[in-house]
Amino acid sequence: MTNWAALRDRLREVAQQPILDLFADESRAQIFSISLESSETGEIFFDYSKTNIDQSTRDALLELAREAGVEDRREAMFSGAAINETEGRAVLHTALRNLDAEVLVDGSDVMPDVRATLARMESFARDLRDGRIRGSSGRITDVVNIGIGGSDLGPAMAVQALSPYCDGPACHFVSNVDGAQIQQVLDGLNPDTTLVIVASKTFTTIETMTNAQTAKAWMARSVADPARQFVALSTALDKTAAFGIDPARVFGFADWVGGRYSMWGPIGLSLMIAIGPENFRAFLAGAAQMDQHFRSAPLGENMPAMLALVGIWHRQVCGYPARAVLPYDQRLARLPAYLQQLEMESNGKRVSMDGADLEVPSGPIVFGEPGTNGQHAFYQLIHQGTDIVPCEFLLAGKGHEPALAHQHRLLAANCLAQAEALMRGRSLEEARALMAETGLEGDELERQARHRVFPGNRPSTMLIYPKLTPAVLGAIIALYEHRVFVEGVVLGINSFDQWGVELGKVLAGEILPMLEGQAPAAARDASTAGLVDKLRDFGI
Ligand code: F6P
Repeated sequence: MTNWAALRDRLREVAQQPILDLFADESRAQIFSISLESSETGEIFFDYSKTNIDQSTRDALLELAREAGVEDRREAMFSGAAINETEGRAVLHTALRNLDAEVLVDGSDVMPDVRATLARMESFARDLRDGRIRGSSGRITDVVNIGIGGSDLGPAMAVQALSPYCDGPACHFVSNVDGAQIQQVLDGLNPDTTLVIVASKTFTTIETMTNAQTAKAWMARSVADPARQFVALSTALDKTAAFGIDPARVFGFADWVGGRYSMWGPIGLSLMIAIGPENFRAFLAGAAQMDQHFRSAPLGENMPAMLALVGIWHRQVCGYPARAVLPYDQRLARLPAYLQQLEMESNGKRVSMDGADLEVPSGPIVFGEPGTNGQHAFYQLIHQGTDIVPCEFLLAGKGHEPALAHQHRLLAANCLAQAEALMRGRSLEEARALMAETGLEGDELERQARHRVFPGNRPSTMLIYPKLTPAVLGAIIALYEHRVFVEGVVLGINSFDQWGVELGKVLAGEILPMLEGQAPAAARDASTAGLVDKLRDFGI
C-alpha cells in the first residue's frame, strides 16, 4: 500500500519535530484550520495546527483519501447507493435533514415519506406539548424513552445538550436491562401523566423489549388503557402492532437509517417533544449545513474530511491507540458516550469490505469527560503517561448563563491552557528552575524536578462554536458522522454494520437458562460454569 508507506516515511521525518517549532511559520494557525460560516450556526472553527501535520504530511493524507475514493463514496452515500454492502442497504441519514431534496432509493424518491413522517411527529409533539394529547388523568408531564444504543444515546445526549431549550414535558431515558434504572425512573413518575416511547429500530432488542414490558405492567396498575400512553419508533411495524401499540402512535422509518445515525428522524421524537418542533427543525438545519459543506468542499478545506485525516494520522500512522473527546461544555457530558458508539461501533473493525484483514489498526478507543472535570481525573496520564493520547477539545464562545460569564471565561482559559500545556510541555531545565525557587538543591532538587517534567509535543485539536444552540449541535453531530464515514472509507471497511455485537447476544441467550436452573452449565468452559454456579449459590 504505497500511500500508507508514504505516510510512514512522513512520520519518520516529523516524529522528532516539536509541534511548537512548526509555528515558526506565522501563517500556520490559519493554514491548518477551517472556518465554516452559516446563517443557522454562525461560525464553527476547527483548529488542527497543534498537531505535527505539516504541508507535506497533509498532502500525503489528502492523496490517501483520494486514492481510497472518498469523493466517489461520499457522492454514492448522499445519492442513495447501497454502500452498506454487508447488509445490502443505502445509508441515508442525511436525507432526514435534507428536506427539500429528491433522493432516489431503488428508483423511487424516499423524501415524500420522510417529510410526511416528520410532519406527523411535529403534529404529535405539538399536541402533546399543548396538552391536546393527554394522559388518563390530565396533561402529560413526563416522557420516558425506552431504547438502547442508537435508540437512546443520541436523544439522551441532545436533550441534555439543549436543556436551555427544553420547555416541554420532562424527558427521561431508560436503556439498561438492569432493573435498577427503570425502577428509579418510574418510581419518580405518575403513570396517569406519563407517556412511554419504545424506541427500537428492530423492535427485538432484549433490553428494550424487557423494559417496555416492565413499563407496560407499571402503567397498567393505574391506567385502564395503557397502550394509549405508548408510542413506538421502529422499522418493524408488525412487531409494534404485536406489542399492542396503536398504528397511529407508531412512527416508522426505513432500513437505510442506521441505528447510531437515527436521531434525525423518529428516534429523535423525545428530543422534539422536549425542545419543540421549531428547535428540532433548527437542529436538522444545522446538520444539513454541515452535509452541504461536506458534500461540496474540496477535501483539504473540508472540515469532516480533515478531522478524519487528523484521526487517521494519529491512529493508523502514528499508532496512538486512543482518542480523548473533551467538551468544555458541561451540557455535552454525554457526547463522549454518544461518540463511543458512533465511532467504535462504526469503525472498530479488523476486516475490510472485501473480507481481507486490515493492514493498519482499526479505529481508536474513544473516551472523554467534560472539562474541567477530566482535568482532575485522567489528564495526569494524558500529560505525563507513556502513551500519547490525541485530544479533541470543544468549546463555546458563550455559555447560556450571561450572569456567570466570568465562569465561562475561566472554563475557556482552562481549555486553551490544557491544549497549550500538551503542546509546550515543561523541560527539565524549567522544572529545575521551579524547584530551585522553592529552596531545594542537590540530589533532592534533581529528583523532584524529574517528576515535574512534561514531555509536551502532544497533539490536540480544537472545535470552537458561538454557543451550543440546536443548529450548532446538529452541525457538530453531522461533523462527527462524516468524520467516521471518511475514516471508514480510508480504512476500506463498512462503517455501517455491527456484526461484533452479535456473539455476546447469542451467548447471553444460552446462559440465561443456566442462571435460571433450567439448563446445565457444566458443558461451558470451567470459568463460566463456575461463575454460573457461584451466582446460583448467591441465590440469583
Ligand atoms: O447491539 C447494537 C445495536 O444493534 C445498535 O447498533 C443499535 O443502535 C442498538 O443495538 C439498538 O437497536 P434497536 O434500535 O434495534 O433496538
